[in-house]
Amino acid sequence: MCGIIGIVSKNLFSSEDLLRALKRLEYRGYDSFGYATNSGILEKDIGEIRLLSSNECTTAIGHTRWATHGGVTKLNAHPHADCKNEIFIVHNGIIENYLELKEKLRGHVFRSETDSEVIAHYLEEKLKTKPMREAIIDFINEAEGTFAVVVLQKSGQQLYAFKRDSPLVLGLAGDANIFASDIYAFSDKTNKAVFFEDDEFAEVSDSSYAFYNKSGNMLDKKIYEFEWKEEESEMKFDHYMLKEIYEQPAVAERLINSLRTVQADKLENLVSLIKNSRRIIFIAVGTSYHASLLGVYFLHKAGVEAQTIIASEFKDYANVDENTLVIAITQSGETMDLIDAVKHAKRKGAKIASLVNVPYSTVQRLSDLSLQIEAGQEICVAATKSFMNQVILLLSLAREFGYDVNPEKISEVMRSVFGKEEKIKSIARSLSASKDLYIIGRGLSYPVSREIALKLKEISYVHAEGMMGGELKHGTLALIEEGTPVIALINGNPHIISNAMEVKARGGRIIAVTNQKNLSVAKDLIEIDADNDAAFAIAAIIAGQLLTYYIAKEKDLPIDKPRNLAKSVTVK
Ligand code: AGP
Repeated sequence: MCGIIGIVSKNLFSSEDLLRALKRLEYRGYDSFGYATNSGILEKDIGEIRLLSSNECTTAIGHTRWATHGGVTKLNAHPHADCKNEIFIVHNGIIENYLELKEKLRGHVFRSETDSEVIAHYLEEKLKTKPMREAIIDFINEAEGTFAVVVLQKSGQQLYAFKRDSPLVLGLAGDANIFASDIYAFSDKTNKAVFFEDDEFAEVSDSSYAFYNKSGNMLDKKIYEFEWKEEESEMKFDHYMLKEIYEQPAVAERLINSLRTVQADKLENLVSLIKNSRRIIFIAVGTSYHASLLGVYFLHKAGVEAQTIIASEFKDYANVDENTLVIAITQSGETMDLIDAVKHAKRKGAKIASLVNVPYSTVQRLSDLSLQIEAGQEICVAATKSFMNQVILLLSLAREFGYDVNPEKISEVMRSVFGKEEKIKSIARSLSASKDLYIIGRGLSYPVSREIALKLKEISYVHAEGMMGGELKHGTLALIEEGTPVIALINGNPHIISNAMEVKARGGRIIAVTNQKNLSVAKDLIEIDADNDAAFAIAAIIAGQLLTYYIAKEKDLPIDKPRNLAKSVTVK
């Protein structure tokens, strides 16, 4: 979380240029923003990234914040400076021993409540007796926690950057070198990047760069050339969420095509890794976890045993050894809990495969084998098309083991749901005042119910619970009153109809998403054409995404940037 950037350029650039690049990282956090230039200008504020003053410079750093330590205030916004306003830093991560470090910096004047400010004062103190490189090495050795930091000195023509656990990459743009949290910050300027590994630091000018390890030895780093599907510059939708929902058939087709061509070998390798492993464990968080639940279902139907565990609980819920294959599923490839779990599994000797959207992300680089989900850039904090492509990839994988569903027909099913938009809009209007919503499903529809509930919480701010239809009578039924809305995902399983009837009998309002004809349990119906379970699940997901979108729109919520969240969750 938090986006950081540092640009050192041969040519003068304006604050507008800097903010434009920073804006590309805004999805990492949007509580506050700020920047500092080598002419000593420091501007910051809370809220949306916007121009605070017009300046020009050749060297600058910027930050967009997702608050951890210290409230959302101007003083807590980055960059932070030393006592004399000569050293500026931007930081993503958490300095866990900041109070201890602060204690050693008595006499320094701290202006914020953040852990990050300690970095600027620490460097200020060290620079009294040693050069910047040595000061940074001292910091890396003394700091505990996670950090990606870019440092700027007033009047300096260089930038310094270092990291542990939090992501950091250097973009080589010819006339400029750009440090950033991820490649998207500079993917409009260059496709050449050098990735930091833990405890490395770099010193960069407009025409050169050098990487070092924490002993101060210079490193020979590989330059990666990445491919990345940018979003179109012309935006025809009111929100990125809707745009990304509508992109799903096309990105699914792109993925399926890549699995037949450029990724065919990788898919085959994943199949043999699965065949040669005694235990298959998916790990993921949030929406990606819901995709993994579907993956377990698909593989199970194809006769392959697998389990899935939320990454943050992985260590306590699974035994891992050299006969284990861990499959990490992630859009960003930077989720800290996931990286932690992957590293744990690696230490235990497990093989790591991953399904990732952002190329060369940390999870991808940690994996023995990684497949791209090919969703392209996803801007809305809510995962929609990336989730869909995770599901399509898992479906294609299960098909290799005999699961009888043709993913190639799925995009037609997706498009058919768009035809129900008006109906979904009118149901959304009727639900916009609801405080609680329940979604029930069975079998494949259970993960779908969880996914729809997560979308309703994060985007529509509705308390929503997605659950197994069978579990309703074991407690949650007590919450059903006259008019309580319950979305039932009805796809031919007779028991889910009984569960819906049980709700109806207690006055609950059933909204059925269904592929069944003549269903009498509900007046509100979102009817979808899907002749198999997987197609039903995919269509129901899209119906849930659209419902979420239109409830949030009805409530005039900040759909693409919901409160308190960020797209890339790089803290534990
Ligand atoms: C999705 O709508 C959520 N914003 C969130 O749950 C997300 O899926 C989660 O943080 C996982 O991220 P990842 O796929 O990048 O690892």
